[in-house]
Amino acid sequence: MCGIVGYIGKEQAAPILLEGLSRLEYRGYDSAGVAVFDAGTGSLAVRKAKGRLQVLSDQLHGGADLDSTVGVGHTRWATHGAPSDVNSHPQVSRSGRIAVVHNGIIENYAELKAFLTAQGVPFTSETDTEVVAQLIEYFYQGDLLAAVGRVLHRIQGAYALGILCADCPGQIVAVRKDSPLILGYGEGCNFIASDVTAILRHTRRVGYMEDGELAVLTREGIRCYNHLMQPIEKETVTVDWEIDAAEKGGYEHFMFKEIMEQPDALRRCLSPRIREGEIVFEDFSLDEEYIRSMRRIYIVACGSSYHVGMVGKYHLERLTRIPVEVALGSEFRYMAPIVDEHTLVIVISQSGETLDTMAALREARRLGGHILSIVNVVGSSIARESDQVLYTWAGPEIAVATTKAYTTQLALLSLLALWLARQLGTVPEEDCRAMLAAFQELPGKMEEVLSRRDDIQYFASQYFNHDSIFFIGRNLDYALGLEGSLKLKEISYIHSEAYASGELKHGTISLIEDGTLVVALSTYEVLFAKAMSNVVEVKARGASVLALATAPHREEMARTADSVMTIPEIHALLLPVLGVVPLQLFAYYVALMRGCDIDKPRNLAKSVTVE
Ligand code: M6R
Repeated sequence: MCGIVGYIGKEQAAPILLEGLSRLEYRGYDSAGVAVFDAGTGSLAVRKAKGRLQVLSDQLHGGADLDSTVGVGHTRWATHGAPSDVNSHPQVSRSGRIAVVHNGIIENYAELKAFLTAQGVPFTSETDTEVVAQLIEYFYQGDLLAAVGRVLHRIQGAYALGILCADCPGQIVAVRKDSPLILGYGEGCNFIASDVTAILRHTRRVGYMEDGELAVLTREGIRCYNHLMQPIEKETVTVDWEIDAAEKGGYEHFMFKEIMEQPDALRRCLSPRIREGEIVFEDFSLDEEYIRSMRRIYIVACGSSYHVGMVGKYHLERLTRIPVEVALGSEFRYMAPIVDEHTLVIVISQSGETLDTMAALREARRLGGHILSIVNVVGSSIARESDQVLYTWAGPEIAVATTKAYTTQLALLSLLALWLARQLGTVPEEDCRAMLAAFQELPGKMEEVLSRRDDIQYFASQYFNHDSIFFIGRNLDYALGLEGSLKLKEISYIHSEAYASGELKHGTISLIEDGTLVVALSTYEVLFAKAMSNVVEVKARGASVLALATAPHREEMARTADSVMTIPEIHALLLPVLGVVPLQLFAYYVALMRGCDIDKPRNLAKSVTVE
């Protein structure tokens, strides 16, 4: 997804912008560009290049070619107009005196383009963003902020904007609506960025822009305004993420680093919330009367977060006996959801910026639901628009393929299910205590799984050249299979499907032939015998079977399956949290052996802020 960074200060801007953009590469992009004010000529210098940021950086000799102390930079992930130099940002106005970087989509750009074209304004790109630059110039009469204000009345859609004007060399103007943008406060310098990672090297003091807000950055400070152009005070917070935590820390890939960080991430997420046999949610509470009045729970999310919701449904229904629906963020609005004040809507998102999930949240709130979100990125849009938030505290996740965010979301949702069950008294206290004990064992058991990663690497070496792989499982193992399959396909580009094992004979089994790889998930003790019979079924049709079972079932499974991955025994509530780790590792090693770009898979973005 697109990334923005802007700098105004006393140092050379271009190297700072390029370095900041490099921190945003993980978001996925197809081109990059910078615009700086060139004091020598009194004009804006704009440089853009399709492809990796390195291409741009090489062209600019690391930024040394541009002599300036103010500028904006952008990494673009194409939406309107193909990836190309000309469609890259910054986009400039016809005179070249206004430059704009933009994340999001201007929905009414075609209408505005037609209006401007009728006024004789020539367009050079296919982007929606160029409309913003041209429109600012159209309204500009010597006061940049006033012109931007007029533009905001005309544009519709989602936008985070960074704006430079050659007539105002000591300013950057920033605007935000439905697309994240933060302000960074330095000493004699200030920043804008779409993600804190881009500026952490320079400052930890940040302010989160709210929808409709504008900011004017100078070297001396930042002035903020609300949508009525009234000055406002912006609260700042200190970000305590270590820079190292946002970098690879010696591992070859962010994904591997993040897989290995999972035990610690779980400790951070769970330890403060389990004290002396009690679940303590300091960051959240629902009163007993509300809990007892709950008639339905919706879980809304996309991608892996949706898979967390699938597991959550099984747990919540089993433990609380409240009906649970799991909906994809992109579908929720169109399915006439049955939501009212007795509905708890659990919104799950790592980034807290996924637009489809956000749109579902807003619809659920409009219908009267109570919104509780499970989010990783503190201060993100979803977190801020929810009634209550449970943060996963997994730390920054950089790889596009989610790992530690998934396991912490899952652990936290499971803990929430247990907490609700306790409030409702739907589970005997003895069982609750057994489950709580399992949470405490979880990080240690996960370390055990990770310590046997060489076994998984070996299995990956056996199977990495398959073209199509099926994941099968029942109930919790089915939900696990959905995530295992997504993980594999998104980074290794191998075609893969996940099926509920019972569905095989209703169609899928016709695809099984000699040598087809089936990953058979059979961690759920209660259904082990049924899982075994499905393994026999596919073996009989010639499949190679790589199974996943708990350690006590290893031998039995090994009698039929070709290879067996194992996890230690743990309470069923937490089986999927442990079970996903071998699948993450399998996907990682397979992608590695196939030479894939693991942290930045093709066509994907970390934070999907378009519909
Ligand atoms: O940030 P979110 O949790 O809202 O993101 C949702 C999905 O885009 C995300 O989980 C995606 O499916 C991952 N790439 C999967 O690894």
